[in-house]
Amino acid sequence: MFSLFRPFIFKLDPERAHNLAIKALKTNILPSNQKHTFKSLNSSFLGKKISNPIGLAAGFDKDAEVYNSMYKLGFGFVEVGTVTPKSQHGNPKPRMFRLEKDRAIINRLGFNNVGSEKIINRIKNNPPEGVLGINIGPNSNSENRINDYLICLKTFHEVSDYITINISSPNTENLRNFHNKTELNELLKALNDEKINLKTNVPLVIKISPDIENNQIDITSDILLNSNISAIIISNTSEKNRDNLISTNSVQKGGISGKPLEEKSNFLIKEFYKIFKGKIKIIGVGGVDSGKSAFQKFLSGANLIQLYTGMIYKGPNIACKINSELNEIFKKEGIKNLSEIIGTKS
Ligand code: FNR
Repeated sequence: MFSLFRPFIFKLDPERAHNLAIKALKTNILPSNQKHTFKSLNSSFLGKKISNPIGLAAGFDKDAEVYNSMYKLGFGFVEVGTVTPKSQHGNPKPRMFRLEKDRAIINRLGFNNVGSEKIINRIKNNPPEGVLGINIGPNSNSENRINDYLICLKTFHEVSDYITINISSPNTENLRNFHNKTELNELLKALNDEKINLKTNVPLVIKISPDIENNQIDITSDILLNSNISAIIISNTSEKNRDNLISTNSVQKGGISGKPLEEKSNFLIKEFYKIFKGKIKIIGVGGVDSGKSAFQKFLSGANLIQLYTGMIYKGPNIACKINSELNEIFKKEGIKNLSEIIGTKS
């Protein structure tokens, strides 16, 4: 069905197409795809059982409007956001671009969202029917960015299965400075202190940039291993990796996602896996659009996968499709369970 509609959808501005998709999904009248799950793909994440390891990455359901529909489409877990304390419009439009020939997207949305108060009410009024992560970040005009993360932690710790600390969007000026040793230590200490204040055990997950230098891998790992971090998401979009692109939109400013990100994401997953050795779980993101590409991420060291751009190009059924393709690969290779293969090619 999707391939039939795709030429029409791709005639629309990408952000408009996205808004229409959200409108359609809000009806939540989809039949559940859960019955198509495979035993070999049953997983657990942060102590919770999930039917499969394919999650929806942050940025699609920014305002927590359609997470329950996404479970029905076959996603094993969903991450909403990025949510900031106050609502904000983000950057001027147009700010999302298709690079069709490169199977990529460039976006410079800039954390457009309706703000934490509206989003907490939405989640309370529409209880999640699966594992839900909430991805948090600071407002662009904030004078105290650490405090913005703390406000979001306070707001969401009771309704989320995990909180993702987003320090890696390229579209909020200097946000990536939180990758520096001093800033990262300060942010994680403040969040852990606040967790004690709130008497909460909500797991903290950190989402990193693919554009870090190799010498930052050791420094970052060391900090994370000592900061009560449960998982790392590798990675957000990239400001680099523009050299081999063929689409005219490759000149657009913003973060690139999809296929051009895949290799760098896999490289970083391997490097972090070698250091963490399972102590911190890895969620692999970047360019996953098939069972084969998901399989590569597991071999590299990812415990779980997230995707966004693959769904733009391959349609809303992508999670189900990847699950059945993975199941076929497992059968062919004699793999009984996902846990057998994680990190075996790192
Ligand atoms: C994103 N991504 C993203 N990430 C995040 O942490 N907060 C956000 O608000 C957004 N917003 C966003 C918008 C759009 C249009 C895209 C394409 C992406 C990044 C996303 O979660 C993911 O990390 C990357 O897109 C890489 O995965 P894919 O898209 O290659 O599967």
